Amino acid sequence: MSALLLPGVVVVGTRVGLPVLAMATLRLSSSSSSSFFAYQQQKVGLTAAQRPPSSFPSPSPPLVVCSIPDRHHLPSSPSSGEASSGRISLGFCTRQSSGFCTRQQSWNRKLAVVAAAASVVEVGGGGSSSTISREEVVREDDPTNNVPDTVFGKIGLQLHNRENHPLGILKNAIYSYFDETFPGVFHKVDNLLPIVSVKANFDDVLTPPDHVSRSYNDTYYVSADTVLRCHTSAHQAELLRQGLTHFLVTGDVYRRDAIDATHYPVFHQMEGLRLFTQQEWEAAGMDGTALAAQELKKTLEGLARHLFGDVQMRWVDTYFPFTDPSYELEIFFQGKWMEVLGCGVTQQQILCNNGCAGTTAWAFGLGLERLAMVLFDIPDIRLFWSNDSRFTSQFKSGQLGTKFKSFSKYPPCYKDISFWISEEFSENNLCEIVRGIAGDLVEEVVLIDEFTNPKKGKTSHCYRIAYRSMERSLTDEEINALQAEVRQQVESKLKITLR
Ligand code: DAH
Repeated sequence: MSALLLPGVVVVGTRVGLPVLAMATLRLSSSSSSSFFAYQQQKVGLTAAQRPPSSFPSPSPPLVVCSIPDRHHLPSSPSSGEASSGRISLGFCTRQSSGFCTRQQSWNRKLAVVAAAASVVEVGGGGSSSTISREEVVREDDPTNNVPDTVFGKIGLQLHNRENHPLGILKNAIYSYFDETFPGVFHKVDNLLPIVSVKANFDDVLTPPDHVSRSYNDTYYVSADTVLRCHTSAHQAELLRQGLTHFLVTGDVYRRDAIDATHYPVFHQMEGLRLFTQQEWEAAGMDGTALAAQELKKTLEGLARHLFGDVQMRWVDTYFPFTDPSYELEIFFQGKWMEVLGCGVTQQQILCNNGCAGTTAWAFGLGLERLAMVLFDIPDIRLFWSNDSRFTSQFKSGQLGTKFKSFSKYPPCYKDISFWISEEFSENNLCEIVRGIAGDLVEEVVLIDEFTNPKKGKTSHCYRIAYRSMERSLTDEEINALQAEVRQQVESKLKITLR
């Protein structure tokens, strides 16, 4: 039975299920979530400084573009308002296109990484394999490219396809739900290449030309018309065109972002879509949109119960460019409402543009890390990438919800850095530099102080960087060397003045 709680919020179910997990934090925000695309319409709109560089091709309607001096002086995101609360803003994007298109088709057949070495990633399977070189993805002298080596190194690792990994276990648990509820109906795809066109990532799912997600600050652009997908929705149109009517797509997605326990520039999503025919909605005595919305809610409430037990749920109205109406499903968990996924009734234009006129559909997208952190009690998103057997040996195929037992936590070391910012300063760019130097040894970057000197008209930021290894103690010497390199690169690449 459902009861209206707040405008736009319907509570479904009445009992709080699963035992409360002892997770360190429920600060689950945009990484692995849909909040980027759930931006309210009135917040949509890039300033000139946030748009991709001028050499980027214009989608239709054309983008107003600007030039950028080099890949480190990237524009900031509108979401940087979060910085005032001490958190660093995040971002991401997508695109599709030319040079990659031909190879994309063959790459899309199978993506099985043989090696994620520093210079080459081999992808392939099913008789065809291909190699992506670092030079194709990381081009430091190309102003339309903003992919760092740290991100290139993740392409093809496909954590979601490891059976004994929490992300693989969660993916398979979701598969089981769909297989039990709709036997033999949903087609599953989990090996598509993450390098997609801007068109696939944004235009095909009706992302407005000025939507924040297209910003160079928020998305990894491989070139002007190609991105590392920022969401698995990038594959909706292509799969519809292939004639699929019920599908689940899982993959790694990429967003320029903050650094903390729940944000990582690479994470994993699953997308689902189901079409309905006129025959189906007539048989149900409903119109097509009403049937899709009803089935969407029933299906996803069932999925949430399958994963979390008999939890209290609510539907929150939201905005996505690709759906109308659009919702987020929240569950009441560990004493808080937690977003589980974003979803809605697919825009007719997407269906018509991709050979599905005369149908309706529901679609959803969920972040695997966000859910896995809660289900397995994993306190830090970096752990998903760990090869430490003290982590990897704790999880077994089919065992959803095994609680992770922390191995000894090594002490963090904090270092502060203060500087006068320029207009072009962006926290995502700062984070990228820190991550480029310290890799997974950086746990968090937090804005701890900000003030403006009215006489000089200058603004100062002070960031606290937490260094901590999940696997060993760090020496003072090592941390001092990292911090010195951070200071040097921040000064030379970010047009700031160190204080
Ligand atoms: N692509 C969205 C995101 O990453 C998630 C999402 C929301 C996917 C609603 C959908 C959908 O298919 O209908 O933020």
